[in-house]
Amino acid sequence: MWNSLREISNIKYKISNRRSEKRELNITPKTLEEISSTEKQRISTGFSEMDGVLGGGIVPGSVTLLAGDPGVGKSTLLLQIALSLSNNKSDKSARVFFISGEESAEQIKLRANRIYKDLRNNKNLLVLASTNTDQVAAIIEKIKPALVIIDSIQTMESENLAGLSGSVGQVRYAASQFIRVAKTLNIPIFIVGHVTKEGMVAGPMVLSHMVDTLLFLEGEKFTKLRILRCLKNRFGTVDEVGVFTMEEVGIKETETFEQLFLTKNLPKNVNGSIISVTMEGTRTFLVEIQGLVVSSKIPIPRRVSSGIDYKRLELLLAVLQKHCSLPMGGMDVFVNIAGGLRLSDPAADLGICLAIFSSLKNISLSNTVAISEVGLLGELRGVTSLDKRIKEAKKLGFKNIITPNNYKTLNEVIRELGNI
Ligand code: TYD
Ligand code: MG
Repeated sequence: MWNSLREISNIKYKISNRRSEKRELNITPKTLEEISSTEKQRISTGFSEMDGVLGGGIVPGSVTLLAGDPGVGKSTLLLQIALSLSNNKSDKSARVFFISGEESAEQIKLRANRIYKDLRNNKNLLVLASTNTDQVAAIIEKIKPALVIIDSIQTMESENLAGLSGSVGQVRYAASQFIRVAKTLNIPIFIVGHVTKEGMVAGPMVLSHMVDTLLFLEGEKFTKLRILRCLKNRFGTVDEVGVFTMEEVGIKETETFEQLFLTKNLPKNVNGSIISVTMEGTRTFLVEIQGLVVSSKIPIPRRVSSGIDYKRLELLLAVLQKHCSLPMGGMDVFVNIAGGLRLSDPAADLGICLAIFSSLKNISLSNTVAISEVGLLGELRGVTSLDKRIKEAKKLGFKNIITPNNYKTLNEVIRELGNI
């Protein structure tokens, strides 16, 4: 908080005490050749999207922090993973331990029931409502489950140190306890952390260097789409994203994610809509960009953007005005990315310009795909993985594809499309 001090207790964590335990001093380092390289057997979560993001499943003994806005679906996703791992398995070694400091055991059961109607066969999901870090760590050590889920790290508290739950000291202490248990018993642990986009550096993000894997679940309120990103992974790449939708009965994987953002049954010859191909990690998505231009009744016309950076919109409008002689001055301009996706990929620039142009001049471009960055001089610039994006658009049946391969400048595109 501004203008106030907060106590951060400087206790020695158990994890460091253990390190100083009596150890033989004659340990010899190994050469790379001597180190066995068999990769640890990964555990599938039952969700191929999740497995993909993790780099092929859960690594035994790994600690994963799942961060995201409150209400985005972290508890739901992890509960579903817990259910999928524990369902229909009689083997005690498949036990999943779900610790919630946020909800009561009854609430968790209600949620589980909503997702899976029939829970009779589930004897392996153990649920505990607790906020006591040391108690939880001790129980994990006792029952040695196959997977542990802690929901959330902000609710965990220990009497061993001062400070309320959620304080940096408590959060770090709890994390170090769970990491110690994970490493010593080789049990994978998922830890939930509530983070808002603004709070990326504060709160549980202080844990990002401690955990093996850091995942971020993103999604706007009121839209179904959820994107799972990997920000750090000691056991895989950080390029993969997982795509889910939040449904009435839990979170689901989507197979046809390439087309997820295209408006279904869009009327033909509609003005102000164009398609672009954006990349998330190594994946391509087709997105519909919508533009609406009307003459303004106020001295300073309105510019409203949703799904793209407002400053980027202003810049592109200036390029349209200066290099394509389009009269943007007295116009209110609205741009929207359909489906709730946020685009930061510069390859959408051309699509944004053409959606605006399409609405301004009443020219339908709804079957056109535009992929290019637009520079300040109105030039079309190359983008990463252009061939891959073109291939994806072609695969989905689009024939008019505008890229820096076939046009040099924005003006050239606009002259041709507008027959000017
Ligand atoms: P939740 O997993 O509790 O979010 P988090 O743990 O990240 O805070 O998800 C909460 C939201 O998800 C809540 O607004 C209701 C919605 N939801 C569904 O739409 N479908 C479902 O099946 C469930 C369980 C929740
Ligand atoms: Mg929750």
